Amino acid sequence: MSQKDREQRGGVTRKRFIDWVLGTSVGGFVLAILYPVVRYWVPPELAESAVNSVTLSIKPADVAANTGRIFKFGDKPGILIRTPNGQLRAFNAVCTHLGCTVQYRADIKQIWCACHNGHYNLNGKNVSGPPPKPLTEYAVNVRGDQIVVSVEKA
Ligand code: FES
Repeated sequence: MSQKDREQRGGVTRKRFIDWVLGTSVGGFVLAILYPVVRYWVPPELAESAVNSVTLSIKPADVAANTGRIFKFGDKPGILIRTPNGQLRAFNAVCTHLGCTVQYRADIKQIWCACHNGHYNLNGKNVSGPPPKPLTEYAVNVRGDQIVVSVEKA
């Protein structure tokens, strides 16, 4: 049976099989390149935490100036910061870019996301790198030797 006979009967020829393999490989390669690029530029929506307030196990005296601590705020991480001038501040620690957990960097006195080098100032404002918006700030109240962090009322 010749190749022409097989093509006329609808059979798969070697050329059609190779074309199919090359076509799907190129398509898969293009998708593998485009998907992370699109995800980088179009960040996902982040769900809000169901918790409104948490009492931290950290005592105010244990938080030195120019340091930060990660804590759990419901099912999300939060970050508590004692600024260099002694103020306590707290934010949602989920980076507004792609959702990595941010950390405090004492050397530059900023909140920093290691994933793509995103920077936030001590007000939670995005100041450099890819984060598209500020971190959500929480209210911090010191009651005796307890720190209570809660969602701020708008
Ligand atoms: S996840 Fe990209 S900068 Fe934070």
